[in-house]
Amino acid sequence: MEKSDLRNELDKLKAISLAVIKEAGSTAELEKARVELLGRKSELALRLKGLGKLPADKRPEAGAELNAVREAVTSALDDKLSAIREKELNEKLENELFDITLPGRETGMGHGHPVVSVMDELIGIFTGLGFQVVEGPEVETDEYNFKMLNFPDDHPARDMQDTFYVQNGARLLRTHTSPVQIHAMQNIKPPFAVIAPGRVFRLDSDVTHSPVFNQLEGFYVDRDVNFGHLKGTLELFVHRLYGEDTKLRFRPSFFPFTEPSAELDISCVLCGAKGCRLCKGTGWMEILGAGMIDPNVFTSVGLNPEEWTGFAFGFGIERIAMLKYGIDDIRLLYENDPRFLRQF
Ligand code: DAH
Repeated sequence: MEKSDLRNELDKLKAISLAVIKEAGSTAELEKARVELLGRKSELALRLKGLGKLPADKRPEAGAELNAVREAVTSALDDKLSAIREKELNEKLENELFDITLPGRETGMGHGHPVVSVMDELIGIFTGLGFQVVEGPEVETDEYNFKMLNFPDDHPARDMQDTFYVQNGARLLRTHTSPVQIHAMQNIKPPFAVIAPGRVFRLDSDVTHSPVFNQLEGFYVDRDVNFGHLKGTLELFVHRLYGEDTKLRFRPSFFPFTEPSAELDISCVLCGAKGCRLCKGTGWMEILGAGMIDPNVFTSVGLNPEEWTGFAFGFGIERIAMLKYGIDDIRLLYENDPRFLRQF
């Protein structure tokens, strides 16, 4: 084959190849062209493969010319690919025009459940007064939940709290946070001031009672503690929580683990003591039980009641939250309906 013949044929091949590339209008079409022009069965590949059959003195030149065509085709393909990509990107940008001045989609920050928020607020108030936070087990024994708190066996006081028994009566779900008093007195050397927030369980369910609810227990053990300390502490607490204008009223009451015992009423947070539906026309609302720690409780944990004195109080968190936010059905607090929870 004459040298000029080969050059002619390759010039033609190159011209056709470049025309094919020019025609391709999409990346898919260009990929097809790449296979057709450079693939294993392409004319160029076959010619390169056939180089070995040429006489040795013609091979270098023919090889150089074939490579030159392959390089030209390859670089034309690459150039075209960049051009197509740019065109496709521009089309996409034009079709997907969006308004960058539109405000972004808001994602809610989320917030605490009203019971959690109230719990946090209460913990804040009491730790500010020097109380430390202690937690106790939710599964208790009769010993801790009742006996060591001076509930005698078969005493009707046990009926005040409908208990969930587990393990055939060997254990129970604590009915109040008062057993944490016992754990604390066994583990911490007095004097100390403790609050014990946590879940409690009672076989009870209606608009104001839930079988699982939260309480906060507070107690202070030291020498020479008197009822005045208890009143002062509770007054500070109520004023911080409901405002300085809230009035307090202590009524005599009974709890096995305190002597004397009292219940604390506050002036109605809704009507300000005028009398309304929330306070059932009385102007007052009961919020907690309290008293001076009974000497028998000290004895049960090995503390000398001649030396140690103390006060204790306990109340339900949900009730505090319901009064604070004017919620009239406790079940709303547990249904987790976002339309309800979003309001707080
Ligand atoms: N444990 C009582 C209850 O659940 C509440 C209570 C009353 C706690 C008087 C106390 C207290 O610490 O002194 O009904």
